[in-house]
Amino acid sequence: MNQFLHDVIKGLSAPKKYLESKYFYDATGDELFRQIMACDDYYLTNCEMEIFTSQTAELAACFTNRLPEFDVVELGAGDATKSVHLLKELVDNNVPFTYYPVDISTDVISLLHRELPKQLPGLNIQGLNGEYFNMLTKAKTLSDRIKVVLFLGSNIGNIPLEDATHFCRQLRDNLLPGDLMLIGFDLQKDPQIILNAYNDREGYTRRFNSNLLERINRELSGNFDVSQFLHYPTYDPGTGACKSYLVSLQDQQAEVADHSFNFHKYEPIFMEVSQKYTVAQIEDLVVLSGFKTIHQFFDSKSWFVDAVWECV
Ligand code: AVI
Repeated sequence: MNQFLHDVIKGLSAPKKYLESKYFYDATGDELFRQIMACDDYYLTNCEMEIFTSQTAELAACFTNRLPEFDVVELGAGDATKSVHLLKELVDNNVPFTYYPVDISTDVISLLHRELPKQLPGLNIQGLNGEYFNMLTKAKTLSDRIKVVLFLGSNIGNIPLEDATHFCRQLRDNLLPGDLMLIGFDLQKDPQIILNAYNDREGYTRRFNSNLLERINRELSGNFDVSQFLHYPTYDPGTGACKSYLVSLQDQQAEVADHSFNFHKYEPIFMEVSQKYTVAQIEDLVVLSGFKTIHQFFDSKSWFVDAVWECV
């Protein structure tokens, strides 16, 4: 059985139904995510972009002051629109480095190979297509240099808070003392601003969530009536967890491959968590997972932070 089908059946058979948010990203989902990132309500991209464009030299200096040469590994590189500013600064300063973008999508890796050298002549790039930890291990076999690992865009927020320490520990276990991380966290702020980012006025996030049901229909012979599920994002300022659900608007049944699932009226499918952090929580995470903080780069509103961590 293919992994996607296996995970969908598992999630929809659970007492509290869920789907895994990593399956949002088919070609339609990638496009919708690009639209989300470009829309005003989704402030995260602008905040992190501001850090990368207004503090580029300081960011680069954080690495070059410590290391004469290194490799940059970017986990979940996407189209590298933010990291390209840092890479340019390094290329312009003749820093010896290879850029290893890691992504689960082969399309993303080929696009980066095609486009980045045009923007940054002289860039050494070697894309790695696969899962984060496997590709980190692979990067280590490809070169002995110290690694600077970028994990941007609040991707860590899609890991539940209770699993984040374990995840960062695993990252640490795949690195060596002296290796560095640059990791982006979305910070707790006015709850309404956070909620609006996951309920944008244009409806991109609604379509992004619904697209997973449509993807199941397309790829797994599903028959969801997508119009009968409501996109319902929530934000709990007590825990910092922003959670999205699709709520069934009626008693209904849906088939996926040869499995049948019943939904009660108002029964939710949990779709995604986007955890928002406090600076104190980030500090706890650093210590518990075997790193130390070197520097923190905030945007001008202090809504987002890119932290530089060193492996101890
Ligand atoms: C990829 N990730 C950090 C996004 C987030 O903010 O959690 C995914 C997303 N989901 C809805 N909007 C954006």
